[in-house]
Amino acid sequence: MELLVTVQIAGEDVPAGRLFQNVRNGAETASFSYSEAYLAHPGAFALSPDMPLSRGSFHSEGLRDLRAFEDCMPDRWGRNLLMRAERNEALRERRAARSLFECDMLAGVGDETRQGAVRIWGPDGLRALAPSNQGVPREVSVLQLLEEADLAATDMDADVRDLVAAGSSLGGARPKASVRGERGALCIAKFPKVDESAIDDVCAWERVSLQLMERAGIVVPASRLLRVSGRSVLLLERFDRIGDTRVPYLSGLSAIQGNDGGRYSYLDLVEFLEEEGAAPDDDIPELWKRALFTCAIGNTDNHMRNQGLLRDVNGWRLSPAFDVNPSKGDQSKYLASAVGFDDARADPSTCLEVCEYYRVSARAAKRVARDMALVLSDWQKAASSNGISKASIDAMASCFESGIDRLRTL
Ligand SMILES: Nc1ncnc2c1ncn2[C@@H]1O[C@H](COP(=O)(O)OP(=O)(O)OP(=O)(O)O)[C@@H](O)[C@H]1O
Ligand SMILES: [Mg+2]
Repeated sequence: MELLVTVQIAGEDVPAGRLFQNVRNGAETASFSYSEAYLAHPGAFALSPDMPLSRGSFHSEGLRDLRAFEDCMPDRWGRNLLMRAERNEALRERRAARSLFECDMLAGVGDETRQGAVRIWGPDGLRALAPSNQGVPREVSVLQLLEEADLAATDMDADVRDLVAAGSSLGGARPKASVRGERGALCIAKFPKVDESAIDDVCAWERVSLQLMERAGIVVPASRLLRVSGRSVLLLERFDRIGDTRVPYLSGLSAIQGNDGGRYSYLDLVEFLEEEGAAPDDDIPELWKRALFTCAIGNTDNHMRNQGLLRDVNGWRLSPAFDVNPSKGDQSKYLASAVGFDDARADPSTCLEVCEYYRVSARAAKRVARDMALVLSDWQKAASSNGISKASIDAMASCFESGIDRLRTL
């Protein structure tokens, strides 16, 4: 299979190169090379650090060493949908289901909702692959999509075509779909899992985190919480779109050339921002603030795919923060990504120990911590205003109260 790859630079789809897939004896290899025209383009940039701007081909088993593609293809949720859709179609057509390789996953997700600014076309460049013929559903479809996601989780034979059209391109593991918000903006609707206990109310707590982060001066996407049949659905405006224009996106994992499941530190991202960042003086202290917030609320699932970067003309900037969630309890908690060199405790004191590496003085760090404690002390009000139940608030109390105490004692 041969695919044309374009990347949108300042709203224009610029041909970047060609991707070739080869499958032999059930094993997939892929290679990509930039076009001469792209290399000569004044706005050209390396799509990911493992694909530096140069002549010649980059080779990979699957797509794992072509990380720019990994960032615009489905993750666990979307992959599962694509495989289910293929299985259902094969059953209908009475044939064996095809194995879906990485390049099939890449080409198989909807163009309109694809993450970032990379787009995948047929070899003639005339047709964006997997165009959605229905368009992105409007916000009013959320109930229907949520019901379909519930059904998909419980019934292997469920029809997942609507979900594939709406949501397969999105990363992450939790159920979700793309929708157009009230004013037409492209949004991600994050759904509760079908078996989620009401006391967990994960999406509502994520919304509380976003609001508290914003009050603490951390950049976050615009969001709203919807109540759908009594359950919380979080609507997030896509930060990789400005109107219809696409903004290049790179995951933190790709930026540091890491692999899923690997143990990394935010300091690896600091190094990337120092080398490739457009505004390291702003973004590195911002990253520290996010790390402090993460420790304070026990946001333990802070793996490097939960950090992102957006392309500016001069380099990469931190994307708004996302997928930040409190975790119950006041026990010691451990982060997926450490703030310091290897101490992965989710404890604000670990942030203070390394603040200078983040261009934050100890004095400024203590001030930020005090201000953050003040913002967090409003957590209960924020939770109630999002309709979170008393039982759920009680279950989360020791998380927030212990976090606030730890911030205050810095
Ligand atoms: N507001 C946004 N705008 C654009 N892209 C976003 C936005 N929020 C999240 N993303 C992208 O979508 C992906 C999935 O979102 P998110 O991390 O919130 O989902 P998740 O299913 O909770 O993830 P996980 O598997 O880490 O639990 C992210 O990795 C990021 O690339
Ligand atoms: Mg995530």
